[in-house]
Amino acid sequence: MPKPKVVVTRKLPAAVEARLAAEFDTTLNHDDTPMTPQALITAMQSADALLSTVTDAITADVLGAADRRAGIVSNFAVGVNNIDLEAAKANGVVVTNTPGVLTDATADVALTLMLNVTRRTWESERMLREGRWPGFQPTLLLGSGLQGKTLGIIGMGRIGKAVARRARDGFGMKVIYYNRSPVADTEGPAEARDSMRAVMAEADVISLHLPGGGANRGVISAELIGAMKPDAYLVNTARGDVVDEAALIEVLQERRIAGAGLDVFAEEPKVPEALIALDNVCLLPHIGSATIETRTAMGMLAVDNLTAHFAGSDYPARVV
Ligand code: DGY
Repeated sequence: MPKPKVVVTRKLPAAVEARLAAEFDTTLNHDDTPMTPQALITAMQSADALLSTVTDAITADVLGAADRRAGIVSNFAVGVNNIDLEAAKANGVVVTNTPGVLTDATADVALTLMLNVTRRTWESERMLREGRWPGFQPTLLLGSGLQGKTLGIIGMGRIGKAVARRARDGFGMKVIYYNRSPVADTEGPAEARDSMRAVMAEADVISLHLPGGGANRGVISAELIGAMKPDAYLVNTARGDVVDEAALIEVLQERRIAGAGLDVFAEEPKVPEALIALDNVCLLPHIGSATIETRTAMGMLAVDNLTAHFAGSDYPARVV
């Protein structure tokens, strides 16, 4: 029997590409150029599966392509906001993702951002590299300590809990959270609040762990950002579109909050010039899951989902 044909939209870690090449009739993307909408449509028409990621807009046009052959979109990401899930359902296309394996790496980057903005490390490093360091001064670049402060988690899922654990056990922070549905096990002391607003208004550092897209677009609104304390920080390793970016820029410019640490942006890879110009933000290029171990594990899980699809067995992580 011929091997199923799989189109892989972006370059993946070598071990993942080797496995794909061994198991399927695989088309890899060696030069890593993002595929155009038309190329995605052609892939759906010519292959049995698409292995996509967050940079691919898997729209209704792609999912509803005439004479579509592919029956599965295996997304290399836990987030699936790049995929029109309703259109997938309507067209009978299976969608899978890669949860669990990127929890620790992403939580580590949330803590990285938290430390970066509260201790002003990027600003300090820039001063040094630019030859502007006047030498030790008792009042130079004073930051703010995390010990005894309150961390507010919005979205107490796997990654939210991992961030809470690090902040509590590593830095002695108190944890409060908001989650849409009750959380059976917070895996350590954490107090629930009954609204996002309550968390935003009480916490010294807020860390966002909500899925992007759909009803969550802009859910961290101007009103919620406005509820933050003037000495509070916002950290986002989830999706850029959950925050009203323009409203965030405004409060940062007007110093109405202390700072922000962002790994994700509303229209990646575009980052607003106004954000880049600010010294009270730390900006990272969506590297939450970017360790070789994690990206390899994500790729292997994406391949496991494909293997299950073609074997007719249970999917390790099916979304649609
Ligand atoms: C995800 O998995 O959703 C991340 O944003 C990319 O690793």
